[in-house]
Amino acid sequence: MTVPATVPNTPAAAEPAPAPGGVLRPHAEEAFAAELAALAARDDRRRPPNWRLSPWAVATYLLGGTLSDGTVITPKYVGPRRVVEVAVATLATDRALLLLGVPGTAKTWVSEHLAAAVSGDSTLLVQGTAGTPEESVRYGWDYARLLARGPSRQALVPSPVMRAMAEGMTARVEELTRIPADVQDGLITLLSEKTLPIPELGQEVQAVPGFNLIATANDRDRGVNDLSSALRRRFNTVVLPLPATPEEEVDIVARRVGQIGRSLDLPASGGLEEIRRVVTVFRELREGVSADGRTRLKSPSGTLSTAEAISVVTGGLALAAHFGDGVLRPQDLAAGLRGAVVRDPAADRAAWQEYLETVVREREGWKDLYRACREVDG
Ligand SMILES: Nc1ncnc2c1ncn2[C@@H]1O[C@H](COP(=O)(O)OP(=O)(O)OP(=O)(O)O)[C@@H](O)[C@H]1O
Ligand SMILES: [Mg+2]
Repeated sequence: MTVPATVPNTPAAAEPAPAPGGVLRPHAEEAFAAELAALAARDDRRRPPNWRLSPWAVATYLLGGTLSDGTVITPKYVGPRRVVEVAVATLATDRALLLLGVPGTAKTWVSEHLAAAVSGDSTLLVQGTAGTPEESVRYGWDYARLLARGPSRQALVPSPVMRAMAEGMTARVEELTRIPADVQDGLITLLSEKTLPIPELGQEVQAVPGFNLIATANDRDRGVNDLSSALRRRFNTVVLPLPATPEEEVDIVARRVGQIGRSLDLPASGGLEEIRRVVTVFRELREGVSADGRTRLKSPSGTLSTAEAISVVTGGLALAAHFGDGVLRPQDLAAGLRGAVVRDPAADRAAWQEYLETVVREREGWKDLYRACREVDG
């Protein structure tokens, strides 16, 4: 595993330039347009109908690699290759893909990059909430037109799923398990019949090849078991694991912090050592035991996900850049660490203080972090 030596603000040659067009967060297909084009140009393997790339090239886009002409594809997802291969292969079948995992395991991130690589468009997105109406997965009406001229194709407002069906693209549904059961049921027929009837017009939309759907769900959410077995059967479930080793997690955090730091134009530097410490703290508390296996720890109630480690470090970088000397130091991380760990003021605070006293204080070379954290704790 290679870890960039200095992290923020040191753009690796092949990393995408930040924010084309000046938006804060470009879609994956825009941010990585050059990589996708290079892959498409080199890709001579068979592409399923309406796919922009072959399954092999899609997996390479996600996992990274070097093409025959030397073009470097940066890894988007760091994790088991097989997980990505199963996900991509599923999309080439008539079954939909369900990405499942604890919070912050890159479900949304992987879903966006898969859609970008397969269809060149990651924006056909339905955000699942308890209030997601049926129109969001089927179609709605432009009422002004409907009242003026009656039901017609012009008055119909297609959902992202309907558009994906008609155009042979990838639709995305975020947080599937939060969607009310009757709206979920609407997806069952759609996924098995690959047809969306429009009874008001006596018409239907039939999915063309290339259509598929990627859903994400958080397995900590209540309701994941309520996903009806009929709907579950329409999906292949792929579980995204937590990073297996500390090095892998440091690599993920360092990469993402580097990208985010550049896009926010944070002129701070250094940081790899501090990232290691943040990741160590997160992993020890998550696992409830110190890295050397000697001290049992109380686990706090928060999830302490990789995604949160990324925000703690990014927040620290902003402090270092704007209020410090531009170098990430423990003082810049202490408040963020505490905020991520202490969610429940009573129980988590005790767990955090115990951790500070029994692990951080005693660890060789961590005195500065200990002092910075004590200062925040008052
Ligand atoms: N294995 C990984 N490889 C690359 N990036 C990762 C990995 N794990 C987490 N990340 C990063 O974590 C961030 C958050 O991921 P994302 O929002 O996709 O998580 P999620 O699983 O959808 O979480 P939630 O359940 O809260 O919706 C992203 O910026 C992503 O880059
Ligand atoms: Mg998500």
